[in-house]
Amino acid sequence: MVIVGAQWGDEGKGKIVHFLSERAQDIVRYQGGNNAGHTVIHKKEKFALHLIPAGVLFPTKRGIIGNGVVVEPRGFLEEVNFLKSKGISLKGRLFLSLGAHVVLPHHLLLDAAHESESRPIGTTKKGIGPCYTDKAARCGVQLVDYLNKDMFPSLLDQALKRNAPEIEYCGGSVETLRKQSLEGQREFAEQLKAFCADTVDLVQTSLQKKRWVLFEGAQGIALDLDLGTYPFVTSSNTVAGGACAGAGVGPTQIEDVMGVTKAYVTRIGTGPFPTEMPTSVGDELREKGQEYGATTGRPRRIGWLDLVQLKRGIRMGGIKHLAMTKLDTLSDVDSLKVCVGYQYKGKTLKEYPLSFAVFETVEPVYREFPGFSGDLGVMRKWTQIPLNARKYVEWVEKYLETPISLVSVGREREATIVRDAASRWLN
Ligand code: GDP
Ligand code: IMO
Ligand code: MG
Repeated sequence: MVIVGAQWGDEGKGKIVHFLSERAQDIVRYQGGNNAGHTVIHKKEKFALHLIPAGVLFPTKRGIIGNGVVVEPRGFLEEVNFLKSKGISLKGRLFLSLGAHVVLPHHLLLDAAHESESRPIGTTKKGIGPCYTDKAARCGVQLVDYLNKDMFPSLLDQALKRNAPEIEYCGGSVETLRKQSLEGQREFAEQLKAFCADTVDLVQTSLQKKRWVLFEGAQGIALDLDLGTYPFVTSSNTVAGGACAGAGVGPTQIEDVMGVTKAYVTRIGTGPFPTEMPTSVGDELREKGQEYGATTGRPRRIGWLDLVQLKRGIRMGGIKHLAMTKLDTLSDVDSLKVCVGYQYKGKTLKEYPLSFAVFETVEPVYREFPGFSGDLGVMRKWTQIPLNARKYVEWVEKYLETPISLVSVGREREATIVRDAASRWLN
């Protein structure tokens, strides 16, 4: 099963993957890098994971980082050591694809430099875009070659030669970056080696043995490079289909896709966001929901649930059911709104405009619902949830023609209500 963010990221994928991981055997990341920040509460302790799949917090689960992920060696090893310091040993159960591309110092420099240009994307500055750029330009470095000290310098030189005009334009020094990359390789390669494997073989063998493999998406569908709000997107395929190329599985091997949506929307970075709330309401929800980026600490932009966006996400993701998170955060909001269309030049659009210039100017058409109150965080049964909250979820589910199988009402695993016990994954 693929767990995919159905909005602009930070939907609570980490929490849902952690919830489901107890039933899974392998948890696989397939795209993105340490731009992701998945916060999980495990045994009352908070973990912000960036590259390592959330399921590894359970001692018998295997974590796999697939070929579609881009890996920053220092960040990866820091995360491994952090988990080790918490008593979580990953020896023999965390695997890094030899085909994954390495985020190098020039990627970090270029990412930061591009962000100071006239149309910033608001990236996480983790070098993700420039690393995928080198990959597509066929001058990137895969882990298999990073580990080979005889091979790496010539590949690095090729990448730096291609990027030299831009590096110099951005005020960087090719020589300094070369030195940093070589030093990094000497420091990290041996430590990385212990985790490296042919992860395609691992995943395929698991599927053959009918083990339950959970694919953990990063970011969200609206940030997909091909299908999102381009150019305000990330540089990988965040849709569920990304799991195929990013982990080496075929579409026929994916049995199920679950989309994760918040009960409202957040977005970090720039780009159109039609349902963004006025600050008076947004600021309150940001504090209540602790809506600050797990990777950068930036305040998240807050908006009403956008069903035009979500409907498109469901179709593009092949999403069969949804997990809705943070319903508890909407408690005590007087009146709830959901967007069911966009007004543009006097017409109501039911579909997502493809031009970002149009998307930036549309006005949302809302449907309003009465609010609800109460401490949902302590409720464990659907029937305990206030009637107006249930009506809100049920209306959304009907409108989207997609079951909301899980409803999350708090950060901890226990604060999860299973509404569709018939699903074979949720039993
Ligand atoms: P991800 O990137 O999709 O994994 O999401 P993040 O971890 O970046 O952001 C989601 C935040 O909401 C995290 O701090 C979670 O601990 C928290 N969270 C997840 N589900 C719930 C929920 O149902 N209620 C509340 N109050 N917090 C939640
Ligand atoms: P998780 O997995 C939310 C956003 C950035 C920026 C755009 C491009 O925690 O949901 P990048 O650094 O990827 O080149 O930035 O994408 N972004 C995220 N927003 N959650 C994330 O990950 C994100 N990863 C990247 O804010 O707008
Ligand atoms: Mg996040």
